[in-house]
Amino acid sequence: MVIKNQIDQFFQVINSDINNEFISWLILNLRTFDQITHGHWAEWLKLLATMPKIPDQRVITINQAIVEVHSPDFFDKESLNQLLKKLSPWRKGPFSLYGISIDTEWRSDLKWDRLALHITPLKDRRVLDVGTGSGYHLWRMLGSGARCAVGVEPTAAFIAQFYAVAHLLGDPHALIIPTTLENISRKPIFDTVFSMGVLYHRRNPISHLQELGECLRPGGELVLETLIIESDAQNILTPEDRYAAMRNIWFIPSIPLLTVWLNRIGYTDVRIVNIERTSLNEQRATEWTDFKPSLVDFLDPQDQTKTIEGYPSPLRAIIIATKI
Ligand SMILES: C[S@@+](CC[C@H](N)C(=O)[O-])C[C@H]1O[C@@H](n2cnc3c(N)ncnc32)[C@H](O)[C@@H]1O
Repeated sequence: MVIKNQIDQFFQVINSDINNEFISWLILNLRTFDQITHGHWAEWLKLLATMPKIPDQRVITINQAIVEVHSPDFFDKESLNQLLKKLSPWRKGPFSLYGISIDTEWRSDLKWDRLALHITPLKDRRVLDVGTGSGYHLWRMLGSGARCAVGVEPTAAFIAQFYAVAHLLGDPHALIIPTTLENISRKPIFDTVFSMGVLYHRRNPISHLQELGECLRPGGELVLETLIIESDAQNILTPEDRYAAMRNIWFIPSIPLLTVWLNRIGYTDVRIVNIERTSLNEQRATEWTDFKPSLVDFLDPQDQTKTIEGYPSPLRAIIIATKI
């Protein structure tokens, strides 16, 4: 019901969008809800069904580091706390929901701060966030004036977290399509497309960049955030096995190589707006991940410029490009 309500309300607010192509695209892709096969999905749906009714009088603040909602009329803090704990681990945030502070593993606000001043202002733009996780950045996109924000995310636990937060905020301008970018039907209907922290998970990174482009209108903007290696040449790192304990890392390119890829497949005006090493302040164990191992455990304890496997420690770039 929580998910259905969010989707129904989303359709109500975008009706003013009067773009039939967008609406039919959404209807088609939302069918992917029927394809969720995760073993815990039914349990999470039950949890979502027990979410408390939200007060009519509430203050939502989504244009700040902590995505927040509060109300003097919300009294059931302890049971909400227990409910949200059952949706752990919370990796991307932070959130503050009726007095409950969800201090997530990642300070996702820091990534937002690194890109916010460089992107074309989102005011009135229709945006897509591929690999949105819990959808934290969707709220920040709306907080920056986007007309509506659509996420694509295949991980069932994160989808459940998003719909829990969406219900508690009571903001109808965002939704998540529960699948991968490859699995959706793609149409050039978005003004800005974000792909952050996804490229290196793909076995075919060039296809990923192409698929992102297929969602952008001509002249639209791609905001790409990914791991890179330091090199002035067209180089790439494919880890032999794990990278910083992660199994599914395939390609970590240098900036010159990434730039060639983007130019070859229909992007122009490629700009590197930020390069930064992930800090122990940005990714760390918290109560909301049950203090599971985090970045500090994945770095060489003798030399934190290296991962435990001996590769360069995570270095991330933000690249902005325009779709031709
Ligand atoms: C490292 S997280 C990044 C989350 C968020 N974008 C951020 O930057 O903080 C990568 C996310 O991409 C999702 N993902 C992985 N492969 C994907 C694909 N092919 N299409 C869409 N999302 C994908 C994962 O489930 C995960 O939530």
